Amino acid sequence: MNQLPSRDPAAPGADQSWPWWPLLPLYPYGRRRTLVRELIPGQVWSFEQLQGVFYVAVPIRMTVVRVRGGLLLYAPVPPTGEVRAALAELEHRYGPVCTIVLPTSSGLEHKLPVPAMARAFPAAQVWVTPRQWSFPLPLPLAWLGFPAQRTRVLFEQGLPHADELHWLPLGPLDLGLGTFMEAACLHRASGCLLLTDALVAISEQPPELFDADPTPLLFHARDRGDAPLLDTPDCRRRGWQRLVLFASYLRPDHLQVPGIRELLAGLLAAGVRSPRAYFGLYPFRWQEGWQAEFRSLVPGPEAALLVAPVLERLVFPRCRAALVTWIRTLAGQSEIRWLVPAHYDAPVACSPQQLGELADCLEGRDWAPDRGSWAYLSGIDKTLLRFGVVPEQPAEPGPGFLD
Ligand SMILES: [Fe+2]
Repeated sequence: MNQLPSRDPAAPGADQSWPWWPLLPLYPYGRRRTLVRELIPGQVWSFEQLQGVFYVAVPIRMTVVRVRGGLLLYAPVPPTGEVRAALAELEHRYGPVCTIVLPTSSGLEHKLPVPAMARAFPAAQVWVTPRQWSFPLPLPLAWLGFPAQRTRVLFEQGLPHADELHWLPLGPLDLGLGTFMEAACLHRASGCLLLTDALVAISEQPPELFDADPTPLLFHARDRGDAPLLDTPDCRRRGWQRLVLFASYLRPDHLQVPGIRELLAGLLAAGVRSPRAYFGLYPFRWQEGWQAEFRSLVPGPEAALLVAPVLERLVFPRCRAALVTWIRTLAGQSEIRWLVPAHYDAPVACSPQQLGELADCLEGRDWAPDRGSWAYLSGIDKTLLRFGVVPEQPAEPGPGFLD
C-alpha cells in the first residue's frame, strides 16, 4: 500500500494547539502534530497524532471514511487547527463531515476529543457505543460535552450508513469500574476494517509519524541519562522497540529502575541540560535480552497483528472467549482486505483467513500469563482483584442485547 502523505506534519505555522490537554495530560501536551495519509485513494484517510507518558508515545489515529453524503470520522483525535484544515480540504472534495463516531465505551483517549470535534462540525450526527461511563463520577454524556440533541447510541438507536458499513460489536464486558465495548466498522467498498483498541499491528521500524520529531525515540535509545540524544537510523529503531516494550508491558522484564544515586549522577550532565532530555533524568536501565523480548512480540519484519499485552492482561484476562468469538465474527466477513486500528500501524493487509488463524492462535496459547514480561501487569490485575475493583467473572450481555 502506498503511503500518500498529503500534509507535512512539521509545516511551519500550522495550528497544532490543543487547549483541552490538561483533561488527559499526555505527551505532547498542548501541541499535537498531525500526519495525514491517504490510505485508500479517494476513500479512507488516516489522521495520526502522538500520545504518551514520559516520551513513551505511540500513534493514535482517527480514520476518515468517505460515505454517501460526505465523510465519517471514526475515533476522533483532538481537532487542532491543522486537523480542521485537512478535513476542510477533504470536505471540499467529498462533501461535509456528516457523522462522528466514538467507537469505544472505555477508551478515554478517544472519548475526550469528541465534544470538541462535535462543536467543530455542528451539523454532524454523533454516534457512541452503548454503556458509556466516566470516572470517578458517573456523569451523563451531556455533562461531558456531548451534544444531546444529535448524539445517538450505536446498535440501540440504529447504525449509521448501514448500507455501506457493517458494524461489529465486541462486548459489553464488565470491567468493574466500567464497561469495555468496541464497535468495529467494515467499510465494504474499500475492504477496510476499522478497529479501536482490541487489535493492533506493530512493526519493528518506527512509524512515519516520528519523522518530524524523533525525540522520544532518541531519548529511549540511550543506556544512560547523561548520554546525548543521537539521531541515527539505529538509534531510532532501538528507541522505538524499547518504547513498544514500555507501552506493551508498562514495566518490561528486561528493564530495571536504577537507584537514586545513579539517577542523580546523570542529572545536568553536559549535553543533556535541556528540557528535551529531561535534564538527564532517565530512570531506566535496560538489561541484556530486551531485543529478544521485543522479538517475542514482533517476530519479523512484517507488522505483527496482536492483542496488545496491556489489554490482554488488564482488560481481557478473563474474557478470552468473548474476544475470540468476536475475531471469528470478523473472520466471517469476506470483504476484509485491510485492518485500520486506532493505534500503531495502518493499513495492514489482512485476510479473513488470517483473522481466523489469529483466533486459533489466541485460543490455543497460554492466555494472560503471569511470568516474565507479563509479571508487572499480572501484579496490577491481582491487586485489583484482591480489592474487588475488577470482577473474577465478568458479566457478559444477556441474549438479545444487540437485537
Ligand atoms: Fe485507544
